[in-house]
Amino acid sequence: MITSQLEDIEKVAKINEGKNLKYSILTMGCQQNENDSEKLSGIIEKMHYTKTENLAESDLIVFNTCCVRENAEDRLFGKLGEVKKYKEEKGTIIAIGGCMMQEKHIVEKLKESYPFFDIVFGTHTLHKFPTDLLEILSNRKRIEDILDIDGEVIEGLPIKRDDNIKASVTIMNGCNNFCSYCIVPYVRGRERSRLPKDILGEIKCLAKDGYKEITLLGQNVNSYLRVEREKNKTFEEYEGVNSFATLLRAINKIDGIERIRFISPHPKDFTDDVIEAIRDCNKVCKLIHLPLQSGSTNVLKVMNRKYTKEQYLNLVEKMRNTIPNVTFSTDIIVGFPGETEEDFADTLDVVKKVNFEQVYMFIYSRRVGTPGDKMENQIPEEIKHERFNRLKELVESQIAVKNKEYVGTTQTVLIEGKSKTNEQMLTGRTDSNKVVVLEAQEDLIGKMANLKIVSEHMWYLKGEVI
Ligand code: SAH
Ligand code: SF4
Ligand code: F3S
Repeated sequence: MITSQLEDIEKVAKINEGKNLKYSILTMGCQQNENDSEKLSGIIEKMHYTKTENLAESDLIVFNTCCVRENAEDRLFGKLGEVKKYKEEKGTIIAIGGCMMQEKHIVEKLKESYPFFDIVFGTHTLHKFPTDLLEILSNRKRIEDILDIDGEVIEGLPIKRDDNIKASVTIMNGCNNFCSYCIVPYVRGRERSRLPKDILGEIKCLAKDGYKEITLLGQNVNSYLRVEREKNKTFEEYEGVNSFATLLRAINKIDGIERIRFISPHPKDFTDDVIEAIRDCNKVCKLIHLPLQSGSTNVLKVMNRKYTKEQYLNLVEKMRNTIPNVTFSTDIIVGFPGETEEDFADTLDVVKKVNFEQVYMFIYSRRVGTPGDKMENQIPEEIKHERFNRLKELVESQIAVKNKEYVGTTQTVLIEGKSKTNEQMLTGRTDSNKVVVLEAQEDLIGKMANLKIVSEHMWYLKGEVI
């Protein structure tokens, strides 16, 4: 982290000392967005704020926004309406950051309709939050701290993690793929990877602190260090790491870490070395999240996904033949412009054939500035919804069958903590990311346990220690 920011943390901490100040943070996006919120929380707590869920008692409210679909944006405007009264009553500081702030039309809308905010900051200026806050505390009126360029990779930010068994670690920022429906490349900038030594250093510390499961994060994790390799940029190799496959192998050797997951890989970048690393590394979970988006080769082409239906299915087949017990989850968009009934049937066909553990389903949402938004053959809302429901029905029927197949099997489960809905029960996940609840002593928390699955429900299984 840059020294001046560390100094500003100290300055704000001095101003705030002894005041018993509180902050809330509203995290509205994906796991990278959550990871950013953990960093923001780390910074903010160093400045003597303690966390609260209660917006009314907060002295500082931070929104970490998402803009991947329209409903994510609507949530911000709804909440802003709610916090306005706190600003008026007690002068609560309102800061809005994250992906949505990289969209110019949104910042304009905020200034027009919600002018009471204090700070807006973007995805490349998160680390400057202490400096922005210091200026507000020194009576500056309003700050817009947004950069259009690709931010540098900033290391050494304090972090306050939400969990003490599972941790996520960002390995790369940005995206170069420009799928035609997607806003992410515009708001997160170009691909840039963290250095192997920084990533491994962070994971070794997590292992020392008792963390058991690591999720590697990036918009396109299996192209880790690709840009750097292609541009012949020199980077420091560390423990033999110069690609995603070698990174998996190096993390697999870290004592204390029991499980490694990663999201999201791109099917087009799934090279054999990565498939072999997944096979060889005993700690890497065999559930692969493999975003499909559409099963139709025509739609995939317009989406700029760079694979066909057959290539996707062949990749699944290759992984099934190489990695014992491999399972799959996916993301699917329904109602992309020009999607015909025949195209949609192809999506259903792939879902039938792959038989995913889990499908994250989305209705296509037009995003300003993306090619998809300019396409003329948009699909009417009622057709999108009708297709979404058909897909959902198919997925749920497959999951119901799958859940039954789990009953009677033995599963290795990482026990994560007490169940949120029932204090008497513990909860954990299988390798395939299925939630399992069980009755057991609390000292099992943080351990891997072999459980016999005794019953199934739509969204969780029940297990018993054997
Ligand atoms: N980089 C990741 C995740 C991107 S965002 C990946 O490529 O998989 C997460 C998911 O949101 C995407 O996989 C896609 O299914 C969905 N999504 C992205 N843009 C969307 C849009 N405009 N409308 C609906 N869903 C969208
Ligand atoms: Fe968006 Fe495609 Fe990049 Fe994923 S790979 S973030 S869907 S542009
Ligand atoms: Fe994530 Fe939403 Fe940004 S999905 S990358 S927080 S637009």
